[in-house]
Amino acid sequence: MSIEKYNGSDLCEPPSRMYLEVCNYCNLKCPSCPTTHNCHAHQGVMTFDTFNTIFKKISHCVKWINLFNYGEPLMNKDIVDIIKCCSRSGIGTRIDTNFSLKDLSQEEAEDLVRSGLTLLVVSADGASQKTYGMYRVGGNFERVLNNMKKVISAKNRFSDGAPTICWKFLINRHNEHEIEKARAIAKEIGVCLSFEIMENFHNRSWDSEIYNHETGTLPDPYVPFGSLRSGDGKGGATVGALNPRNAGFLHKDLRRACREPFSELVVNYNGDVLPCCEIVDTLGDGTLVVGNLLNQSLEEVWNGERMKACRRYLLNYGDGKQFDSVCEHAPCPVGKNKKSVAQKHPVFQEREKRKVAEIVHRVQEEGLKVVFFGAGQLAIELLTNSPFSAVKLVGVVDSDLTRTGEEFFEYKIFPPTSIDALGPDLVVIASKAFSCEMEQFLSRECLRNVEIFKF
Ligand SMILES: C[S@@+](CC[C@H](N)C(=O)[O-])C[C@H]1O[C@@H](n2cnc3c(N)ncnc32)[C@H](O)[C@@H]1O
Ligand code: SF4
Ligand code: SF4
Repeated sequence: MSIEKYNGSDLCEPPSRMYLEVCNYCNLKCPSCPTTHNCHAHQGVMTFDTFNTIFKKISHCVKWINLFNYGEPLMNKDIVDIIKCCSRSGIGTRIDTNFSLKDLSQEEAEDLVRSGLTLLVVSADGASQKTYGMYRVGGNFERVLNNMKKVISAKNRFSDGAPTICWKFLINRHNEHEIEKARAIAKEIGVCLSFEIMENFHNRSWDSEIYNHETGTLPDPYVPFGSLRSGDGKGGATVGALNPRNAGFLHKDLRRACREPFSELVVNYNGDVLPCCEIVDTLGDGTLVVGNLLNQSLEEVWNGERMKACRRYLLNYGDGKQFDSVCEHAPCPVGKNKKSVAQKHPVFQEREKRKVAEIVHRVQEEGLKVVFFGAGQLAIELLTNSPFSAVKLVGVVDSDLTRTGEEFFEYKIFPPTSIDALGPDLVVIASKAFSCEMEQFLSRECLRNVEIFKF
């Protein structure tokens, strides 16, 4: 269910994505992470029994599970069995790990690869022990690299392509000079590398100087980054422009609103459910929790009063209105700053508007066949609020396979593998973020002679 399909009634179709927090302990002490500061009211590891109980309630509708939230997922000794359960049911899985818990044995690397895991994201913010260790306190950079090499080698021996392995490098003031070095290491070991900007809640002097907070970009040749973040540098709520076909449901001041309560849930190790990963249950008194999947059904939680209150708040926000929703109590930018989040961050900068106008002019003059890669906020904005609204596309592809077949304006969403059949002259990368999936997509042989337009 996406917000574009929400029909304004009180009932929302079940979520297709979830976060399961398989463990909220961690071996590292990253200074901006709530785990480091013992912010969780309850800490623990999800038992296999708890996982099974929850899994039975969600597996009929969920197509993708992120098996992490806060904490280190590989500290759960059942993680491989948990992944296997998901993959046997055809559910895609992602793990983000610091990969510094221990030296993986060959066998452990093979087990991880053979589990059916779809995406393995390795968080390592630096290209030397010195810079890496400033944020990943207690981590061992060499161990992380060796573990990556082991899973890559296991993947080459045992797998038909899964999992995608991606090194995620969060840029800060202390590691920004090592970007090229990281690129060289990634190339040498054969891993995809993606950059994001680190949120430095603990110390703003860590903010990267090469990142332009006004435009939300990194200088060339670095790809622009992260327009889906709230962008005010204070929080990470995912905000998205709403399809105007549904904008009638929204208060005008929330034209860009958080989509999470319409599409996904976060389940903590003990079954407690939160509407998004912005929220850390610091209180433990139920104020920030919308239900519990051990003693309630998915339907009871998903369409329960507390989730409805979140949706009502996001759709009906207005002066003086109180919904007593978790979103209003949560310290997220949407909940706290409301209008300022929506208004401060236009999707297109002037420079980008000019580039879009130029390319659309060429599309129309030369009759180019255009495909969008990405069906998120930027694609919506391009199709509704830019000259692209006058262009008839030959298709839209998205690497999020849970969205394959979904209706998106007058188009259907195709998987990246369909690009050959669509035969475009021009592919518009409708995303400002850089991802492994995007890199893999762009390296396809059939795109060699195709023009690529990227912001
Ligand atoms: C809280 S971590 C939990 C998973 C695992 N322990 C890890 O670090 O990858 C979830 C995600 O948050 C990211 N993260 C951690 N600190 C961050 C920060 N200061 N700014 C932005 N993302 C951050 C991690 O890289 C990871 O992708
Ligand atoms: S490794 Fe992940 S969970 Fe652990 S402290 Fe760092 S960001 Fe938080
Ligand atoms: S607390 Fe509510 S508004 Fe804020 S990010 Fe989470 S779901 Fe969105």
